[in-house]
Amino acid sequence: MNAKVREVFTLRGEALKLGEIVGQGGEGAVYDLAAHKNHVAKIYHRPLEQQRIDKIRAMGKIKTDSLEKLTAWPTGLVCSKDSKPIGLIMPKISGRKSIHHLYSPKSRRTDFQRVDWRFLTRVAANTARAFAAVHDNACVIGDVNHGGVLVAQDATVRLIDCDSFQVSYLGQQYLCEVGIETFTPPDLQGRSFSGIVRTPNHDNFGLAVMVFLLLFTGKHPFAGRYAGTGDMPISKAIEEYRFPYGANAAAVEMARPPSSPELAIVGPRLAKMFEDAFSQRGTSAGRPVARNWV
Ligand SMILES: Nc1ncnc2c1ncn2[C@@H]1O[C@H](COP(=O)(O)OP(=O)(O)OP(=O)(O)O)[C@@H](O)[C@H]1O
Ligand SMILES: [Mg+2]
Repeated sequence: MNAKVREVFTLRGEALKLGEIVGQGGEGAVYDLAAHKNHVAKIYHRPLEQQRIDKIRAMGKIKTDSLEKLTAWPTGLVCSKDSKPIGLIMPKISGRKSIHHLYSPKSRRTDFQRVDWRFLTRVAANTARAFAAVHDNACVIGDVNHGGVLVAQDATVRLIDCDSFQVSYLGQQYLCEVGIETFTPPDLQGRSFSGIVRTPNHDNFGLAVMVFLLLFTGKHPFAGRYAGTGDMPISKAIEEYRFPYGANAAAVEMARPPSSPELAIVGPRLAKMFEDAFSQRGTSAGRPVARNWV
């Protein structure tokens, strides 16, 4: 819809020329800005709802040093010629690859120079740091997914798609009403995200999944062999706490996929954290928080 927009305006009326498209998603397209090399503009495909406009405004107020360092936090709205908000401005992130390029064994060799255990654990810790920065500021990622975490060759991490986060500001809550099944905790599986208030404990499930994917070469923690009858898709295994690497695996009729390592390879501390994150206990009493993984 906004494909023909070539020029946008800041709230102060400054005209910004859009350059090349640097990326596209379901909600918008991200453009270079001719006159601001360190920033990009995301222009939405569809008209912006008032809630989203208010959320982006609130995010501009919340901005902190750690959010600036670890995310592409929106800095403000951009408008069309007739002063309607149509997008946002954020820092440009370059020289990074999506985290799934790192955990999937095929692309990691071509996309990352030096992938060893140390590098993977540093990326895991840095991802957790970024989650912690979001949680420290009363926000929740909500839609944790492999496209939202960008990794550099020095193992630092930045989160993108921040306008989908759940944001709390001055008593107002701006929700995140989307999510991806394989990063969704058991307590939200099979439910609509619409109207749901997400919590850091929900994110902490997605974070544990992401750390697991990193340390187990892209194997999802809930993908395993099911000994019962019928199918056991990942979403159902999550919902029913059937963690095939856990001490409880046999009792829930699960076994690890062929040729996958046992949980103990990560050491006792991390193994316990995965057990806690993926158990019923994690839902009721709280999963390891982002800072625990650092
Ligand atoms: N700050 C940024 N700097 C550089 N490139 C970016 C930035 N933010 C996003 N991109 C690029 O644009 C793409 C789309 O961005 P983003 O994920 O924010 O869009 P979206 O439409 O909200 O996506 P989704 O449908 O997944 O929510 C990203 O995958 C990335 O390649
Ligand atoms: Mg989005």
